[in-house]
Amino acid sequence: MTYQIGSLLIVTYAWLKAGHIIFVIFWIAGLFMLPRYYVYHQESAPGSDEEKRWIEREKKLRKIIITPAMILVWTFGLLLAYITSAWTQGWFLAKFAIVVALSGYHGWMIDYGNKLEKGIRPVSGKALRIMNEIPGIAVALIVVLVIVRPF
Ligand code: HEM
Repeated sequence: MTYQIGSLLIVTYAWLKAGHIIFVIFWIAGLFMLPRYYVYHQESAPGSDEEKRWIEREKKLRKIIITPAMILVWTFGLLLAYITSAWTQGWFLAKFAIVVALSGYHGWMIDYGNKLEKGIRPVSGKALRIMNEIPGIAVALIVVLVIVRPF
């Protein structure tokens, strides 16, 4: 009986980790694309057909890819953390802090999309391009923490 539970946990762990990484890729790919969409959106004339097309594209990217992927990354990640007792490990606590910050960035991007839809464009294209680097830096730090486990 114990053997069956053990092998079931190993199989579950492997599928959870596979699912976790698949949705990490979707989430991060979406976070790379969205600020780019906002930059091109802001280059279109307010109220134009082109602006309406950007609003539709952004909505689809947020609702179909980015937000569902983030929810699944968290779900698989928290289940993995439970199975592996990751909370006791320094690398994981550092990773978790960066992921919470990245989720905050996600929230800011969603809110900015709602502003753009109302015709409000408070941030310059240049600043949005710089912000586009944030997910890249976060991913590099997270992958080093989870693979190298420096502490
Ligand atoms: C709240 C969100 C997250 C939680 C709770 C979480 C938790 C975990 C846990 C517990 C593991 C298993 C570690 C082990 O095998 O011992 C793991 C693996 C992994 N996570 Fe996350 N994670 C989260 C978000 C992310 C994000 C945003 C990324 C990348 C940008 C990421 C990348 C990875 C990678 C690459 C692995 C596989 C590491 C390996 O093969 O050993 N995770 N995650």
